[in-house]
Amino acid sequence: MTTPPEIVILRELLDRQPGFVSGSALARKLGMSRVGVWAHMEKLREQGFAFKAVRSRGYRLTRRPAALNAPLIEAHLRRRARDFTLVFLDEIDSTNSEAERQLAAGRAAPFAVLARRQTHGRGRFGRAWHSEANGNLYASFAFRPRLEPARMQTFTLWMGLNVCELVANFCHLSPGLKWPNDLVFAGRKAGGMLTEARVDADQIRDLVFGLGLNVNCPRDAWPRGLAATATSLAEQAGAPLDLNRFAAAPTGRVLLAYADFVDGDYGKTFPDLWHRYDSLRGHMVTLAQGEKKFSGIAEGIDGEGALLLRTDAGKTLRFRAGEVTVEKYPEAKG
Ligand code: BTN
Repeated sequence: MTTPPEIVILRELLDRQPGFVSGSALARKLGMSRVGVWAHMEKLREQGFAFKAVRSRGYRLTRRPAALNAPLIEAHLRRRARDFTLVFLDEIDSTNSEAERQLAAGRAAPFAVLARRQTHGRGRFGRAWHSEANGNLYASFAFRPRLEPARMQTFTLWMGLNVCELVANFCHLSPGLKWPNDLVFAGRKAGGMLTEARVDADQIRDLVFGLGLNVNCPRDAWPRGLAATATSLAEQAGAPLDLNRFAAAPTGRVLLAYADFVDGDYGKTFPDLWHRYDSLRGHMVTLAQGEKKFSGIAEGIDGEGALLLRTDAGKTLRFRAGEVTVEKYPEAKG
């Protein structure tokens, strides 16, 4: 598949920043005239990019759009992550639903669906996921894995750990994973994951990993019910993130994490990552399954990803599903 000229231009300019790239070098790279290059740069200008042109030196990128921009995300994708095709939408009901529809229609996997806004973003237990065009990330990654359904639980945990690691490295923050699928900072939620699958006989046919990350949503833009429990990466970092550069990062990380999961290689790093990011260990928690509630000290997970709780009576209970509330999180430092 040939790379669209706008993406090639952006890659060249980003690679050379803050230097210049000559118009003739771009023309050579693209196999077109300099007038042709100029026309593609014009298309980028219409999307909010600006370039400085200096005679005898060429072009330099001086402004990029702050909102999600498909060519810019593609330009930031690292080489190994370019096996993904990216479906980029202004608005959709839910990126998970769109990924499921496209899988059902036969689109080749893996691919990712990203949207600026979701009208019916969904979370666990059929809850709505607040999905305005507010600088946050709504993404779904679609695969056809041919795995046993029993492996789903560890899949979501593994992906969650990889998202934590990505956030830690990219933003220099210390997130935690709240079993089974929340990314948290001292109990406040900055992200959620929703894995959905279609199962054929006893194999997973289609798998969609949905990721909602609160990246740049300003504190005063949350609906009242969420303001107390939600946080964003920008709030934790103390400054907004470059959303397009950031959006490219999970796309790469998820692809690699998926490959490690399917090959079975994840087993080597899973325990280390789990110990680093498990936000529940040692805390007194309550797990709700419908009307039933169970309390105990969180003691990690077993080999199948089930949560272990040690009760007051000294018994260890094991849970494959449920919603966990931490009795009290220690105050965040700083
Ligand atoms: C949860 O914490 O309950 C999971 C939330 C998952 C939200 C993401 S946003 C992208 C994808 N599309 C959806 O409709 N849901 C997931």
